This record gives sequence, structure tokens and C-alpha cells, in this order.
Amino acid sequence: MTTPSTTDTPTDQATADATADRALKAKHAAMWASGSYATVADEIVGTLGATLVAAVDVRPGDRVLDVAAGTGSSAIPAARRGAEVTATDLTPELLEVGRAAAEAQGVELTWRTADAEALPFGDGAFDAVISCIGVMFAPHHERAADELVRTSRSGGRIGVLSWTPAGFIGQMFATMKPYAPPPPPGASPAPLWGLADHVRSLFGDRVTDLTASQQQLRVDRFADGAAFRDFFKANYGPTISVYRFIAEDPAKVKALDEDLAALGDRFVHDGVMEWEYLLVTGRRV
Ligand SMILES: C[S@@+](CC[C@H](N)C(=O)[O-])C[C@H]1O[C@@H](n2cnc3c(N)ncnc32)[C@H](O)[C@@H]1O
Repeated sequence: MTTPSTTDTPTDQATADATADRALKAKHAAMWASGSYATVADEIVGTLGATLVAAVDVRPGDRVLDVAAGTGSSAIPAARRGAEVTATDLTPELLEVGRAAAEAQGVELTWRTADAEALPFGDGAFDAVISCIGVMFAPHHERAADELVRTSRSGGRIGVLSWTPAGFIGQMFATMKPYAPPPPPGASPAPLWGLADHVRSLFGDRVTDLTASQQQLRVDRFADGAAFRDFFKANYGPTISVYRFIAEDPAKVKALDEDLAALGDRFVHDGVMEWEYLLVTGRRV
């Protein structure tokens, strides 16, 4: 008689899948908690949040959901406009930083740990659902897009801002890929959210009035590629995690050091870099 495996029935398979997904998300949360994403937001990318909030035209009284809110780069500006904001993120450590900053500024909003792929809110609960360089990092794009759509009320606004594959941060992920562990099964590359056609197909006919525009974030923080690399190596979770993966192989560490500095040098012109992103807005049907 053969012993049944633990995944013999559909229920067992679903349990195994859920366990694997929880483990993957715990790994992602630990990655984003490493280094100091707050420093990256404060010193470089934080202004994108207000850009997204303006594009979605957040108004006083709007119920706004910020997905993958991090330290609140878009949630806090949305709350400043008088909206009733819920900031969610996989990484509680980042929400805590945001909560403290908002309190210090006298801005009120709700902070809640949540996976973008399984949001703990009812259908149509929000007037605006936004995500700034955030939802792109949830590994299952369809599930995450479905959740953005589901939690938005009919007629509500959806806004997503993402790094493009060809832009600087997209190129940074491409540069790190040969040094990184293979992606988990079923995961899609984050920068695909930076392609208008990809986002259009994720939302399908559930979102109308879709606009997509490529824009650039001007970054004058780095004199050269090595300065960019060292800053990301110290502060940015995904970069830190790749370096940890190859830590026992000095030749690979040296090669990645050189590749990232060379990439940075290609983008720095007179101390200024342009980091391309895609800004998508639409309306829930
Ligand atoms: C680059 S940060 C952006 C944070 C913030 N929106 C901003 O503009 O500064 C990416 C964020 O995505 C979050 N994240 C990654 N995977 C997630 C998931 N599956 N569900 C929710 N948040 C996730 C990370 O914890 C991190 O805070």
C-alpha cells in the first residue's frame, strides 16, 4: 500500500500553496525591512507619492486606500488633502516609520499590515485606490490587480506609479538578475507594471478612462555610479538581499559592484540622473 503524499487532494494542494505563499511574503517583508527604505524615500523617491496623489485628484472626504504604502510617501500627502486614508503594506516596520512621521506632523490616517494580493477590505470600499512604486513588487500581478479593482467602488479612481523596465531602476533590477536567486514559480518581474500594455491587460475592461504617461524623476543625489551603488547597497532591501545571496563569492560581489557602478555612470550626467516611471490612472467601471 502506498502512503498518500501531503498534496494528494485539491484541499491539500491549496493548503500547501497557501503555506508557500506565506513563506514567500515573509521573505519579502524581511527584505523590505532590511537596510533603510525610509532613507531612500526621504532622500530620493518620496516626492513621487505627491505626484500620484495629484494625478488621481484626491479630494477631501475621499476614502483612499494606499497599497504597498511603505512609510507613507503617498498616503500622508493624500491625508493632508483631507482624505480618509488607509495605508497598507506587507512590511510592518515601514508602516511604523510612517505612523511616527504622520503623528509628528499631526496628520491622521490608518495604518494596516496587508498583502496587496489579499486585501482585508470589502468590495468597493474605497473612492480611490493608489499604489506608488509599490504594488509592482507583489509577485502575482493578476492577483494584485484584481485586488486594486475589487476594493475600488464603481466610478472610483485607480492610480498606479511604477518603474519602467527601460528606465534606471528597471535596469538596476536587470543588472542584479544574474546574481539573484531564481524567482519563485509563478512570479512576474516587477518592472512589467511599468509597461502600459501590461497594466491595460491586467485591468481589462474593468477599468475605463485609462491614461498612461512615462515621466522622469530627477535625481541629483549621486556624483557618480559608485555613489549610487553604495547608497543602494546600504539602504535598499532588494539590493541588500542580492548582495547577501552572493556574499560567500567575492568574485561575484566584485562583478556586481562593477556592474552597478557602470550602470549608474551611464545615467549620471553632470550629477543628475533621470529615473523613468509610468503613471497610470483610470476609473473603475
Ligand atoms: C519601493 S517601496 C514603495 C513604498 C511607498 N509606496 C513609496 O512610494 O515610497 C515598495 C513597497 O512595497 C511593499 N510590498 C512588497 N510586496 C508587497 C505585497 N505583496 N503586499 C503589500 N506590500 C508589498 C514593500 O514592503 C515596500 O514598502
